[in-house]
Amino acid sequence: MKYDFDRVIDRMGTASYKWDQSEKLFGHSDVLPLWVADMDFEPPQEVVDEIQRRAKQGVYGYTIRMPEYFDAVSGWLKRRHQWDIRHEWITSSPGVVPALSLIVHAFTQPGDKVILQSPVYYPFYDVIKMNGRNVVDNALVLRDGRYEIDFDLLENQAADGAKLLLLCSPHNPGGRVWTREELTRIGDICVRHGVLVVADEIHHDLVYRGHEHIPFAGIKDEFAQISFTCIATSKTFNLAGLQAASVIIPNDELRRLYNQAIKTFSIHMESYFGMSSVVAGYTHGDEWLEQLIDYLQGNLTYMLDFVANRLPEITVMRPDATYLVWMDCRAISEDPADLKKLMYDEARVAFTEGSVFGKQGEGYLRVNIACPRSILAEALERFASAVRQRT
Ligand SMILES: Cc1ncc(COP(=O)(O)O)c(C=O)c1O
Repeated sequence: MKYDFDRVIDRMGTASYKWDQSEKLFGHSDVLPLWVADMDFEPPQEVVDEIQRRAKQGVYGYTIRMPEYFDAVSGWLKRRHQWDIRHEWITSSPGVVPALSLIVHAFTQPGDKVILQSPVYYPFYDVIKMNGRNVVDNALVLRDGRYEIDFDLLENQAADGAKLLLLCSPHNPGGRVWTREELTRIGDICVRHGVLVVADEIHHDLVYRGHEHIPFAGIKDEFAQISFTCIATSKTFNLAGLQAASVIIPNDELRRLYNQAIKTFSIHMESYFGMSSVVAGYTHGDEWLEQLIDYLQGNLTYMLDFVANRLPEITVMRPDATYLVWMDCRAISEDPADLKKLMYDEARVAFTEGSVFGKQGEGYLRVNIACPRSILAEALERFASAVRQRT
């Protein structure tokens, strides 16, 4: 089946976090939203069919994970990421961020140090700070237009008593796919100093041609034993409203404690539609995903060409993965408030303003390119016109 990612779907009035909040968040109802990581595409047909079939069954009671769920998750990881996992390692969460927060809560104490690598997906800060833990920033280093890891700093921070590392792999917003060598160095440091690793691999399927995502826990057993790997069909197949993430925990004791924590908060029940969508997506979604990646690759090329021709003062970081594109706009303005004014009031577009990812993000904008090309073109056109109006 050939999917039509060019088709524009009107999402206004669907209680969409992305489309139904422009007036509230940006002060104008006509702001085009290319911010939150939610795609404007329908999922694979098999997922839609399965949800419709389940909807017709008509009783939406408490839901459990059936054997086909475990087959689907492990089959996907084996087929797409060459990672062999055991069914009993798989547990779940309503979302990846809830899992991150729960792990911080269950495996560290108030006041403990938790490492992140800025600039990074902003809820990483929230799950540390809101649990009363301290953020330790292993800030990424910008080298030749790409982010790299400061391993010496990481070693010092791990030796200095940090309890946990929140690893974003692939990285949001930088789009890096970490190499096996980089991940091995991270893991070796963490093993040496007894630091647990939460690998947020939610973007693992959205990898551009020529790059390969390596599951952190699949590198060696020592890494599997200290890790929690979080994945979800929410990003891969655009199912964020269905609330079903998977967490893979190979170590028996860590998994026991995680499951106890998830029960303590009573968030261990599954979403009726969430379960069906995970099984359908991971069982039948390969072809759709291949076509999606080709389409996103086309959008990325479009955007890179557009910016090079029309906004040469902006430097775009070419992502290895994710549909999120990180643009250095410091030549236009270094002031986050001014960049917001430019986007919302002047251009009437919403990209994500970079300072929310950390201090290093000031002067950057993150563009969500997972939309029909016509919408991307319109958004870039609006932004370029607003920039030119200023000069
Ligand atoms: C790195 C990362 N983790 C987690 C999430 C969201 O996960 P969830 O909606 O399952 O909580 C996102 C969404 O943008 C993300 O980029």
